[in-house]
Amino acid sequence: MATVSHSNPDMWGPLNEYDERVQTRQLREDEHQRGIVQSLQDLHDMLKDYHAPKVVHPSIESLKSPSRSLLGSLFHRQPPKKRTQLPPNLPKGLYMFGDVGSGKTMLMDMFYDTLPHNITSKTRIHFHNFMQDVHKRLHAMKMEHGTDLDAVRYVAADIAEKGSVLCFDEFQCTDVADAMILRSLLEALMSHGVVLVTTSNRHPNDLYKNGIQRESFIPCINLLKTSLRVLNLDSTTDYRKIPRPPSGVYHHPMDKAAISHADRWFRFFGDFENDPPHATTQQVWGRNIQIPKASGSAAMFKFDELIGRATGAADYLELMRSYHAFVVTGVPGMTHRERDLARRFITFIDAVYESRAKLVLTTTVPLFQLFMSPDEVDDALEGGRKAGSVKHAEEHEGVDDVMRQMMDDLGMSMNMLKNSSLFSGDEERFAFSRALSRLSLMGSQEWVEQGLGMEDRGGLDEKLDWQRLRSRWREDSM
Ligand SMILES: Nc1ncnc2c1ncn2[C@@H]1O[C@H](COP(=O)(O)OP(=O)(O)O)[C@@H](O)[C@H]1O
Ligand SMILES: [Mg+2]
Repeated sequence: MATVSHSNPDMWGPLNEYDERVQTRQLREDEHQRGIVQSLQDLHDMLKDYHAPKVVHPSIESLKSPSRSLLGSLFHRQPPKKRTQLPPNLPKGLYMFGDVGSGKTMLMDMFYDTLPHNITSKTRIHFHNFMQDVHKRLHAMKMEHGTDLDAVRYVAADIAEKGSVLCFDEFQCTDVADAMILRSLLEALMSHGVVLVTTSNRHPNDLYKNGIQRESFIPCINLLKTSLRVLNLDSTTDYRKIPRPPSGVYHHPMDKAAISHADRWFRFFGDFENDPPHATTQQVWGRNIQIPKASGSAAMFKFDELIGRATGAADYLELMRSYHAFVVTGVPGMTHRERDLARRFITFIDAVYESRAKLVLTTTVPLFQLFMSPDEVDDALEGGRKAGSVKHAEEHEGVDDVMRQMMDDLGMSMNMLKNSSLFSGDEERFAFSRALSRLSLMGSQEWVEQGLGMEDRGGLDEKLDWQRLRSRWREDSM
């Protein structure tokens, strides 16, 4: 396979490279794969302006476990765990997954080889080798400083010093030793400004399936899902000419990739050929609702253009009659100061859900922070601790898996949620948690594909085509 021959990496990115290889017949054009290349290009563009913060190495002293200190051992209490902060300018990395032979390694290498020149240090490594090296270093730390030390954070800083872009091939988790440290390791790497790009043959949800103490691994899965863009290379269920965007329907933060995220989903749900995007208005009770962009049965709004205006349930229901897919961009986190917005947005989510429509969002914060700021989350945690609440299994009853995962991830209990300042009445709390679980349902592949004819024959032909194409690649590369 050709190596990148272009000397000015700032003028040359993954898309150029892909085009060139297609033109020179080293690669076959593949629409779905091109979607992934676009995501790699988005990240490439963000990295052009990215300068990783200088790695501040934690001292050995600061990593000594406080729970073993005199006070700690007297009271047997863990101090409140501060959530690790990621640098605000950290570009979101990528997690590409798909079957063997779908081109993951090839695409990651293409990205790695075309990284812009300001990325002066980078590492590409097979994940298994990487973890072996990490365990070796951890062992050495323990021999030198004893076991009473958060050595993972020390080792992470060492690794971060070696490269601000870290590419892992074949990310996986197969043993409990890896499972126990992966989350803090990845989080520490990102907190030092390291951008992660990985390939894997599984979706994060399917990592470490049936592993020992799988529950302790869930926070790592959540970290992967919220801090990386998860892209699917398998296009088996595509049935239309417009390929399904490789990512899920929700994206944060509002970076460059957010724009192409919204555009690609709008194009997918819309009908650009027969009904090019246009502005239109809709009458409700003699009033007009402005729809800035419509195509086919898809409508696209900025959050401010829809929820930011004085709209309500009647307007939303009217919209549901005319459209079956909604792309809402720039959804902000809503704290108690924006309570009205939060209520209106929840009403909108309910309307979309009840009419079985599709929803695509770009948000400034991860979904679980939509209705609660990081400070409020911290306050809720503090409040809950002060109230001496203990997490009981029963407390979580009636809460669905998604909420439970989210709460576990934040170390929250139902009690803490109740202490949150945003939702003062019972009804609002209920609406809040229901909105989140509805959002997560509407983010599932089943929901997105339902009614699009992807499930039956339409999808099958496409799947067979895809498998044929792949087996051809394999023959070619032998
Ligand atoms: N669009 C394409 N056209 C032709 N060959 C391709 C294309 N995409 C991938 N390949 C080839 O298919 C083979 C498998 O790709 P690879 O990146 O190793 O897959 P994975 O890492 O997903 O298992 C490689 O030889 C690769 O060069
Ligand atoms: Mg591979």
